[in-house]
Amino acid sequence: MSKLPTHIPVIAIDGPSASGKGSVAELVAEALGFHYLDSGAIYRIVAYASKEQRIAWNQAEAIAALVSQLSIQFVHGEILLNGANISMLVRSEEMGRGASEVAVHPAVRNALLDLQKSFRKAPGLVGDGRDMASVVFPDAILKIFLTAGVEIRAQRRFEQLRNRGLDANYETILQDLQTRDLRDSQRSAAPLKQVQDALLLDTSDKTIQQAVDFVLDAYQECLNSYKKT
Ligand code: C5P
Repeated sequence: MSKLPTHIPVIAIDGPSASGKGSVAELVAEALGFHYLDSGAIYRIVAYASKEQRIAWNQAEAIAALVSQLSIQFVHGEILLNGANISMLVRSEEMGRGASEVAVHPAVRNALLDLQKSFRKAPGLVGDGRDMASVVFPDAILKIFLTAGVEIRAQRRFEQLRNRGLDANYETILQDLQTRDLRDSQRSAAPLKQVQDALLLDTSDKTIQQAVDFVLDAYQECLNSYKKT
């Protein structure tokens, strides 16, 4: 029987915007008692902080320098920037767009690497984002590429915003998602892509619970395969 890897296990879940990967990742983390990293939130925080400091989202070096001065904390699911709770503010569509603009800069991505890696703590971590499997945790024990058709994602985002009592327009959301998909997958630094050793999970006709079960089963299989070999 080969031994389980000695390093802290990471389950990497990557995928496009509004694919539901955040909800799935959080529930998987809860089921396993693992920590959870919402890496998209980190890029959103950087977009927000840059705007606050009047730094345009195309100013790579200035944003990378700003990153080193930020104190970012996740406390009981709330996002604290320099002590202030900005959870709701970073969830806006504007900050989603801003996140995808600051995320194209290699200098900004590098400046955020150590912070993301620091979430890897015992007994394990579920990380969601675009480059969890390819860059941040290439040694993840399980890699999932979670996606859904763009119209389905737009419809889910539309319903989510309406349920929160926010103004939402399906066509605008669809266009926005298409623009972000293109920017995220065509950028040269850590583009969104399914790495070779990732399992594809298309949630177009799946419930969140079915997607969670898929990941939990795949994780169990990983553990079993270590025991068998
Ligand atoms: O996941 P979420 O929609 O919150 O991410 C916002 C943006 O942050 C994405 O569109 C993407 O451009 C960027 N991002 C990234 N790498 C990650 C997580 C998010 O480039 N690991």
